[in-house]
Formats: sequence, structure tokens, C-alpha cells
Amino acid sequence: MRRDQPSFVIPMFVSAALLIGSAVHSQSVSTGGKLYDKWWSEAEVTAPDADQSLWATQSSNTRSGADSWRCKECHGWDYKGADGAYGSGSHKTGFAGVFATAVSLSEDELTAWLNGTANSDHDFSAMGDSQIPHIVRFLQEGLIEVAPFIDPETKAAIGGDETHGAELFVSSCAFSACHGDDGRAINFKNPDDPEYVGTIAADNPWEFIHKVRFGNPGTAMPAAVDEGWTMADIIDVMAFAQTLPTGPDVPTAVEPMGWAVAKQAAAR
Ligand code: HEC
Repeated sequence: MRRDQPSFVIPMFVSAALLIGSAVHSQSVSTGGKLYDKWWSEAEVTAPDADQSLWATQSSNTRSGADSWRCKECHGWDYKGADGAYGSGSHKTGFAGVFATAVSLSEDELTAWLNGTANSDHDFSAMGDSQIPHIVRFLQEGLIEVAPFIDPETKAAIGGDETHGAELFVSSCAFSACHGDDGRAINFKNPDDPEYVGTIAADNPWEFIHKVRFGNPGTAMPAAVDEGWTMADIIDVMAFAQTLPTGPDVPTAVEPMGWAVAKQAAAR
């Protein structure tokens, strides 16, 4: 039996390939945001291990290796560097932010900052030439002023609607394969020092907003900027997430030995 291909199959194939091709080449703000967070996870390249060259010009932040290559480590989750949340505390480097300056730089100038042309010590071309346009677009279109949404003293979400936030959390974040009902299905850190959705929301609302807007590098977490969420939606979810547990449950007292014996006896 002859098995002719229906004539529409080939054009469909070609246009699908074109679509995929263009998706790879178009610049995406959310990809740029994830690269800003941790570019090697998002670009799927090897993590750097030596310190970034500019790292030695500061001494207040004692992290080393790959951490010193994260854009956010020097320029902050609020994009304001020394003028923002990383102006104090263990992440303090004293480096300037990009919030005030990136908007006034052209695409070419921003590219030059990222591939080492502007300053050879500020060379991030290890992420791959195809990634840099995403970061450039993120720097031009993705940076926002988050100060109005965060109480600087308590870190509480300002003006968030917890009830609406809870609805969004249940419908978009709590899936069993994702964060779970109380945000503790995934531990971002380690068993001894756990970090959950509630922990980040309470301790680092700047990071929370960035991760919700752009997603988490190298994971399937969707980006609110791609899902059509408004800034109000994000702050509502943050207000709700700040009510979630920030640590493991306090373990209940160990069952006394006698109980096990009594239960065994009862079972006989
Ligand atoms: C080790 C710290 C460090 C890291 C990591 C880092 N930067 Fe920078 N960045 C700096 C410093 C310091 C300057 C200013 C350098 C100078 O003036 O020569 C700078 C300058 C810039 C500028 C130019 C800003 C201006 O005011 O002209 C941009 C844009 C920028 N960085 C974006 C990024 C992005 C995006 C990443 C991540 C891919 C990144 N930086 C990673 C420290 C860092």
C-alpha cells in the first residue's frame, strides 16, 4: 500500500521549525531575568569556579566562586546595588546598581558591558553570545522600582490583598509537583537550614518579587511577566506568602519507649 504524506504535513513541519527557530532568537525579558539571577543555570553552561575579577575590589561580602558571578550578587535583587537592600548585611559589596543607569544605555552599550568590551573585568560572555540579548532586553524593559511595595523596616508587602493572593497561590503555585499548599513542598536550601516560599517572602521580598516575575533559572517555574500577571497580583501573592511557614514544624516529643511496648501488646 502506498503511504503518501498528506500535502499539509510538510508546510506544518516547516512552519513549526520556523516558530521554534524564532523563539530561540527572539529576546525574552523573562529569560534575561533568569540569567540575571544565575546565568549558568539558565544558559545550561558550566558554573564558573574562580572568583569574578571585580570581586577582589571589595571585601565586605565573603562569598566566593560562582556566587561572585551572579549579577544579583553585585547589583541586587532590587537592581540598586549599594543604594538598595544589599547596601548592608552579608551581601553588601558597595557596587553600584543598574537601575538608574541601564535605561540610558543603548543596546550596543549594554552588550559591550556584558561581553567585556566596555571593561574586560566585566566579561560575562561565558554564558554564550546568544544569551546576552536576553539580558540586554531585561535591563531595558524588566527593571522596576520595588520600593513602594515593601515596608523597609518590617519587609511586609505594602497594599497586598492576602485573600486574592491565596487564590492565586492555590491556582498557580501550590500544585503537588510545585510548592504545595503551605509552600514547603520544595526546600531551596538544605535540611538543616531550610528555605521555603514563606522564608523567601518574609526574609527577602526583593528576591521574591524577582523570582515570581521571571521564574527560577533552570527550572520549569513560569514567569508572571509571561502569564499576564499585574504587579498588584504579585504583591497579593507576596502578602499571602508572608503568612506561610518559614521553617520546619517543631518536632513533637519523641514517643516514650513504653508506648511502643504497650501498642505491641495491644496488637497481639
Ligand atoms: C563582581 C560584581 C559584579 C557582577 C557579578 C556583575 N557586575 Fe555589573 N558591574 C559591576 C561593577 C563594579 C560595575 C562598574 C564597573 C566600571 O565602572 O568599570 C558594573 C557595571 C555594570 C553595568 C554598567 C552600568 C553603568 O552604570 O554604566 C551594567 C549594565 C552591568 N554591570 C550589568 C551587569 C549584569 C547584567 C551582570 C550579570 C551578567 C553583572 N553586571 C554582573 C559589578 C558586577
